[in-house]
Amino acid sequence: MIVAGVMSGTSADGINLALVRLGEARRATIPGLHRPALELIGHAEYPYPKDVRKFLLATMNAKQASVADLSRLNFLLGELYADAVLATQRRFRVKADLVGCHGQTIYHQGEAASFRGRKIRATWQTGEGAVIAARVGVPVVSDFRPADLAAGGKGAPLVPFLDFLLYRDSRVGRIVQNIGGIANLTAIPAGASAKQLVAFDTGPGNMVIDAMTERLFHRPYDQDGKIAAAGRVLDSEIMDILRESFFRRKPPKTTGREEFGREFAERLIRRCRGAIPPDMVATATALTAASIADAIRRFVLTRRGAYRELIVSGGGSRNPTLMAMLANKLRPLGLQLRFSDEFGLPSEAKEAVAFALLAYETWNRRPSNVPSATGAKKPVILGKISYA
Ligand SMILES: Nc1ncnc2c1ncn2[C@@H]1O[C@H](COP(=O)(O)OP(=O)(O)O)[C@@H](O)[C@H]1O
Ligand SMILES: [Mg+2]
Repeated sequence: MIVAGVMSGTSADGINLALVRLGEARRATIPGLHRPALELIGHAEYPYPKDVRKFLLATMNAKQASVADLSRLNFLLGELYADAVLATQRRFRVKADLVGCHGQTIYHQGEAASFRGRKIRATWQTGEGAVIAARVGVPVVSDFRPADLAAGGKGAPLVPFLDFLLYRDSRVGRIVQNIGGIANLTAIPAGASAKQLVAFDTGPGNMVIDAMTERLFHRPYDQDGKIAAAGRVLDSEIMDILRESFFRRKPPKTTGREEFGREFAERLIRRCRGAIPPDMVATATALTAASIADAIRRFVLTRRGAYRELIVSGGGSRNPTLMAMLANKLRPLGLQLRFSDEFGLPSEAKEAVAFALLAYETWNRRPSNVPSATGAKKPVILGKISYA
């Protein structure tokens, strides 16, 4: 069947769409492991309209928001996601049989905390599945994360299911690194079973860089890393930040705008007092590279030579300054930097492909969270279905 995967990440830059052909693999390549056959038909990207992005960023950074606005946002995003699916179907001249839609995260709290007398974890992805189903005319799987939370997990990351399917190798240990608003990795030891995966958020991806460029240069992001390339990195600030609690916490762990949003960017600007604006963007960029390498050193590389490659995806892989900084940090760790594109999956399409795959699994009533990645007590079927 053909499944449309719809992803909109924490950067709130827009909607990534992937049309994926999925089917049952004829024979299991790994004994005891179910691996569907997957082929990317096409992918497309649709930026959010400017005022929608502005509203999203304000909502995600807000301590308060109007209930009426949040309710309307859910239905508005449903319309935008449906438009994106329909446009992509026209472009590639195929029709999807199923849609998997991640939705826009407006709040995520993976750790349990006391709330009105009970310990609660919470997550909220918005973008109404019923609207997409009505407009596109096929069933929609949405709201993937709550089932994992309910099973005691952190609800994230969910992409390791795809990473395992695509990148597991019997001889080469690989680390798969996505750099979206937040950066997260999946470490897959050579010959690993799904239980042996290590996956967690490493910290900021583009989020802090974007906030800095917006604030200091009134641009939504540092295109091609040009601003950072002209700046000087304040190494001592980075060393200090890496001593903060998020970076020291053991995985599994997740983070988001709550931790690395505008407030964090403002603090970083204050820390860099005296430096010129390009230095601040360079420092934010270096923080992403350093926090990735640091997380790998602290929590992944228990044995030298166990991992040889780091495969990057996400918008951050389009920032050459960030990639150069990352390659430099990886070299002493014996890791070679590679791009998801080299493995046949365009960097920006990967997460959308993942949600097509997860929807397909749900449609077939199979679990697709990876408990070693999310911390859930058991594998569970993810998502909710809206019928057309
Ligand atoms: N050409 C580019 N140069 C620099 N940064 C880029 C480029 N293209 C994309 N990005 C960065 O990638 C981000 C979007 O990444 P994405 O993977 O879509 O994140 P998310 O999953 O959080 O939406 C942008 O906000 C921007 O910071
Ligand atoms: Mg995005």
